[in-house]
Amino acid sequence: MTAGPVEDIKIPPIRNGTVIDHIANGQALNVLKILGVNENSIDSSISIGMHVRTAHNEQRWKDIVKLEDRELDAVSVSKIALIAPDATISIIRDYYVAEKTPVKLGDSVVGLVRCSNPNCITNKSEPVTPKFIVEARNPPRLRCIYCDRDLTNVSDNLLRP
Ligand SMILES: Nc1ncnc2c1ncn2[C@@H]1O[C@H](COP(=O)(O)OP(=O)(O)OP(=O)(O)O)[C@@H](O)[C@H]1O
Ligand SMILES: [Mg+2]
Ligand SMILES: [Zn+2]
Repeated sequence: MTAGPVEDIKIPPIRNGTVIDHIANGQALNVLKILGVNENSIDSSISIGMHVRTAHNEQRWKDIVKLEDRELDAVSVSKIALIAPDATISIIRDYYVAEKTPVKLGDSVVGLVRCSNPNCITNKSEPVTPKFIVEARNPPRLRCIYCDRDLTNVSDNLLRP
């Protein structure tokens, strides 16, 4: 074996699972939070690329997450759309891309994020599920239906999965 520079190590391919690509630079850890990944919940491999080039010769950056043996439910996909509106979800089967879809936020967001207004009824002791109207998708801007406040810092207000 010769010792030399190792160039261009890529994230290893997966046989079956899901690739979440074109995540906004810096949001990969929030994607893992959305997926409920923690030390007790991992039962197959996850590869994370943070601050990787969008294309070989480009000076633009993205994050990417590859999940082995896992497909995502619809709630997780809409949560990902909240923090990574350009993301694509690819289902990998037997090493090939079987399906690829862009994430897409619906017209409203129910129970996924909390309102940033501490006086909002959704933050009082009575259980009221937070609900927002989607006013813009990229970057996402949500308006609380109860207090009308705009929520822009979505990733800081995600509710636990
Ligand atoms: N077997 C595999 N294991 C891991 N990742 C894979 C595998 N096959 C494809 N991918 C990844 O899945 C995503 C979608 O694959 P695709 O071939 O459509 O990529 P692409 O041509 O770069 O498309 P895009 O325009 O979305 O970047 C990419 O991030 C690619 O790296
Ligand atoms: Mg690509
Ligand atoms: Zn509110």
